[in-house]
Amino acid sequence: MNYEFINVETQNGVAVVSLNRPKALNALNKGMVLELDRVFDEMDGDSLVKAVVITGEKNFAAGADISNMLTLSPEEAKEFSFRHTFTKIEDFPKPVIAAISGFALGGGLELALACDMRIAAPNAKLGFPEINLGIFPGAGGTQRLPRIVGPSRAKEMIYTGDIINITKAAEYGLVDIVAEDPLEEALKLAGKFAAKAPIALKLAKQCINLALDTDQKQGIEFEAVAWASTFATEDQREGMQAFVEKRKAIFKGK
Ligand code: CAA
Repeated sequence: MNYEFINVETQNGVAVVSLNRPKALNALNKGMVLELDRVFDEMDGDSLVKAVVITGEKNFAAGADISNMLTLSPEEAKEFSFRHTFTKIEDFPKPVIAAISGFALGGGLELALACDMRIAAPNAKLGFPEINLGIFPGAGGTQRLPRIVGPSRAKEMIYTGDIINITKAAEYGLVDIVAEDPLEEALKLAGKFAAKAPIALKLAKQCINLALDTDQKQGIEFEAVAWASTFATEDQREGMQAFVEKRKAIFKGK
């Protein structure tokens, strides 16, 4: 499949999706987001893809493309919002890691927040500068940021629009791992995920995501059903048999 605004390469079970509008610091236009939407649909059905890394070469993404938003009406703005694609990425049944260098701002940071984890370089700069444009984050930022950094820090970031450095981002828990080469680090981690039992991993992700959206008792009940269903998989038999036989399990995703 050919893309104009992204590059996609899969190796050893890990797909790397690179945002590719370097001249605009990878600002997200509608075309790029439609391509992201499409590639996630394709990777969903591709058993060779077991984990995904989203990245951009020098910068992650400096936000939604402002030149595309200048004259939007409220109805068009709702249509322009990237929320459906970012929720698709959050719900993607395989792990997704954001590997961040340079700017991750506005819609770019919202994309990173929809990923399971964020690994960033010492030069990373993160923030929600929308308030300086007379708007505020509109692709999940007001909902995902407080769940990750807490409401006060989310309010500080969104109200000030300040761009924060890696030290503060790590202290806030916005970035999980700081690495000189975030792509290399993300590939290492994604490779580890890719070797695990895919169905168990998918269900674990669903349960953890649900933990942020539901009360604990319901979450525990959901977990019990999901957990029990892993006992219908070949991978559960293989995992436990391999343990008993003192060998490495080979999971098939069945
Ligand atoms: N949209 C469109 N173009 C952008 C862009 C954006 N979000 N961010 C950067 N660019 C373009 C610049 O216009 C510039 O293009 P030209 O060379 O053609 O002039 C090019 O990228 C390089 O940018 P700068 O010259 O500005 O680079 P800099 O190093 O001086 O500054 C920056 C970097 C601080 C990131 C600055 O570009 C900036 O402030 N960008 C906008 C950040 C922003 O406000 N993001 C939020 C967007 S709104 C949003 O995302 C809504 C949402 O919630 C979905």
